[in-house]
Amino acid sequence: MPEADVIIVGSGLAALMTAYHLHKHKNVIIFTKTKQEESNSWLAQGGVAAAIAKEDDWRLHYEDTLIAGAFHNDEQAVEILVREGPVRLLELVKEGLQFDIDETGQFQLGNEGAHSRRRILHAGGDQTGKALVSFLLENVRGKVTIIEGESVTDLLVQNGRCVGVKTRTGTYDANAVVLSTGGCGNVFAFTSNAPTATGDGIALAYRAGAVVSDMEFIQFHPTMLYVDGKAVGLVSEAVRGEGAILVTEDGKRLMEDGHPQRDLAPRDIVARAIHAEMIRGGRVYLDISMIPHFRTRFPTIAAMCEAHGIDVNDGKLPVVPGAHFLMGGIQTDLTGKTSLPGLYAVGEAACTGVHGANRLASNSLLEGIVFGARLAETLRNEQPNRLECSVYEAVPFTKPLPSVSDIQAIMMKHVGIVRDEISLTTAKQWFEQFSIHELIASDWSLFNEEQRTAASLLLTGWLITTSALKRTESRGGHYRSDFPKEDDGWKKRRIKRTKEELFA
Ligand code: SIN
Repeated sequence: MPEADVIIVGSGLAALMTAYHLHKHKNVIIFTKTKQEESNSWLAQGGVAAAIAKEDDWRLHYEDTLIAGAFHNDEQAVEILVREGPVRLLELVKEGLQFDIDETGQFQLGNEGAHSRRRILHAGGDQTGKALVSFLLENVRGKVTIIEGESVTDLLVQNGRCVGVKTRTGTYDANAVVLSTGGCGNVFAFTSNAPTATGDGIALAYRAGAVVSDMEFIQFHPTMLYVDGKAVGLVSEAVRGEGAILVTEDGKRLMEDGHPQRDLAPRDIVARAIHAEMIRGGRVYLDISMIPHFRTRFPTIAAMCEAHGIDVNDGKLPVVPGAHFLMGGIQTDLTGKTSLPGLYAVGEAACTGVHGANRLASNSLLEGIVFGARLAETLRNEQPNRLECSVYEAVPFTKPLPSVSDIQAIMMKHVGIVRDEISLTTAKQWFEQFSIHELIASDWSLFNEEQRTAASLLLTGWLITTSALKRTESRGGHYRSDFPKEDDGWKKRRIKRTKEELFA
């Protein structure tokens, strides 16, 4: 049984930031189920938010984060994010990371929804995630072991402690296991996420007995390019930050009266406005005609449009909302520890509470940078506490699994931007025909890749649905038409889930 001090599952920004700060002190193995560059982080367009401008202040960034998060945020986590963020970013810049600069050598700062200042650092125009991930990969390559194409299928738990992982091909023991597997956008048919974001870490943690929380809070990004009835890719909010506006088919400004910040209102508000227009049978477009040099500022988006036969010179992009970010996840404290000793989580897979009920734009890369570095510090100081892994009996799951597209269709129809008791109950009943109890207790190394993806999405979709049913209010990314208002009784109340609920 090969051994590591630390096993990291996933290869996005938070995973790599942890490895970057840890490799000198610990023997680290990273498992990634596809290629090291395949992650949501790699795709991130907008940038990284940080209060570094003279006219900015961490307190303003803090305030914006809480307002976007509908005040469901853990305030201590937010303060850490916005105060440590600029320090960590400038450290990376000192070590060679490059952001876009203007002709005077100053960082170019973009704007995005719900920010009160221009504070979005970006690289390569709209290729910020790629720049960050490439920089970290270059710096950890050869210093940590990266195993590609290997799915972690189960966590090994002994005497109440996570002691390693099982993969398709064997078991690995470790003093610490870090889940940094990203979110679960692919539980919905329309998503901006990489195909790898299938809720794997959440399913692993829940099955191992760790607490997951806030699963009802899903952020739908307002603007995905909409072609032939499908959402085909993200059109960054930075485009609206440069002046683009949402218009209806007859040219009316969609957000004119929707919110004081209009097109740059928090994402949940803009996404619901587009959804409502589409439910009425209308179409929504992003008018980009006022943005000079669109192709230079947004090369990835321009290339995507052109690949789908849309000429950016026409100045109008058809858009639709798509699942973008999970605010909930595996519950951790502010150092990355989960409720299960030996198990840690970071990045989108984790829920520190930093994003509240709706993440502020460009705070996700920042989260990976800040909390990845903090987790590395935690792990540096952990004492070895390894237990011998015993041999695990493999219990097969013998029931049929639904297809991924069936799960996505159910989630889109019943658990999407607008939910209510009837839709959520319909989805819950659908999920529960698939023997969730047995699925949780079975050995997933016996599944093939397709079955494992369906199993992760099934469990994640069920957790989202049943958490959404419990929260009888609307807040941030969770909107219920039968409880359309925020209810102060629910503010900061977290819906926590563990597998014990099924076996009580
Ligand atoms: C975007 O570029 O609009 C997405 C960035 C983010 O989710 O923060």
